[in-house]
Amino acid sequence: MRDLLLRAPDDFHVHFRSGPGMGEYVRRTSAFFDRALPMPNTLPPLADPETLAAYAEKVRAAAPGLDLVLSIKLFPGMSADTVRACARAGARVGKYYPAGATTHSRDGIPTPREIRDALEALEETGMVLSVHGEDPEAPVLERERAFLPVLRGLLADHPRLRVVLEHLSTREAAEFVLAGPDRLGATVTAHHLSFTTDDLAGGALRPHLFCKPVLQDRTHRDALRKAVLSCDRVFFGSDSAPHPRGLKESGEAPAGVYAAPVALPLLAAVFEEEEALDRLEAFVSFRGARFYGLPPNRGRIRLTREPWTVPEEMDGAVPAAAGSTLAWNVERV
Ligand code: DOR
Ligand code: ZN
Repeated sequence: MRDLLLRAPDDFHVHFRSGPGMGEYVRRTSAFFDRALPMPNTLPPLADPETLAAYAEKVRAAAPGLDLVLSIKLFPGMSADTVRACARAGARVGKYYPAGATTHSRDGIPTPREIRDALEALEETGMVLSVHGEDPEAPVLERERAFLPVLRGLLADHPRLRVVLEHLSTREAAEFVLAGPDRLGATVTAHHLSFTTDDLAGGALRPHLFCKPVLQDRTHRDALRKAVLSCDRVFFGSDSAPHPRGLKESGEAPAGVYAAPVALPLLAAVFEEEEALDRLEAFVSFRGARFYGLPPNRGRIRLTREPWTVPEEMDGAVPAAAGSTLAWNVERV
C-alpha cells in the first residue's frame, strides 16, 4: 500500500452558495483544503464591498481555518470605482460570466466592451480576471472553442491583466493556455480529468455529472491531462457546484457537479493512471498559489490507497461518483 503525504491543497474555484447549505459546503471543502476561492455567482451576487464583506464573514464563521481568496462578479457598466472599492474590501479576483453562459449568469457580460472600465481597474489594482470561457450563442459542445477569440482580444487589449481561464474542457483551450503568456493561467477540475460525455449521457443520463462546460470526449480529456502534467500555469479548481438533489433530479437539471467530497481521490486515481503521482502536489498545492502570489499552505493531507464507497447523498446533494468505490481515500494529518 502506497501513501502520499501532500501539502494541504488549494481550491481555486468553488461554489459555496449563499443559501441554507452554505455552511455544510464550506466545511466539506475545509475538511481537506486550507484555502479556497469562492465564486461570486451567489444570490445576491458578490459585486459590492458590503455584500462581499458580509459573505466573507459568513464563510469564515462556518470554517474559521479556511483561508479565502475573495472574488466579485463583474457586471456590464461596472465602474472602476466599484472595482477599486471591492479591492480595498479584500477582493483579489473579478469574475467574467458571459451573459447566459451558466447558472445565475443571465445578467452577465454580452461583450468585453461593456466592462472596459472594470477591466482597467483590475489591471491597475493587480486583481486577477477569472473567465468562464464559453460563448452561449454557439452549440453546447462548441462553446469553449468559440470563446477563445474573445479571450485573445482581452489579453491583447489589456497587456498587464492577469487572467485565469476556468475549468478547461477542450484540447483547443488547453493548447491556447499552453501557448499563452505567463500572465495567463487556467484551472482544471477533477471531473473533467476523470469523465467524458459518455459517462454523462452514453447510457442512462446522469444529471449529477452535468456541468458547464459540458464534459467532452476522451481526446479532450487526454489533452487536459497532458496540460495538467506539463504546464506550471495550470492548477486545480474543483468547480464544486452543489445543487439540491431534488432540483438536479427534476426535468430541468441545472449545471453543476458536487465535486468537493471526491475531488482529491479522483485526482489521485488520474495521476496514478498517468504514472505521475509525484506531480499531483504541484497541481493541487503549489502552482495556483504561485500564480496568485500566495505562500503555500502549512497543513498536510495524506492520500491512502484504501477503497471507499462514495455516499449516495452528502449535504443534501449527490456528489460525483456517488455509489461507486474509489481506490483512494484522503485524510488530514
Ligand atoms: O456547471 C456549472 N455550475 N458551471 C458553472 O460555471 C456554474 C456552476 C454553478 O454555479 O452551478
Ligand atoms: Zn464554477
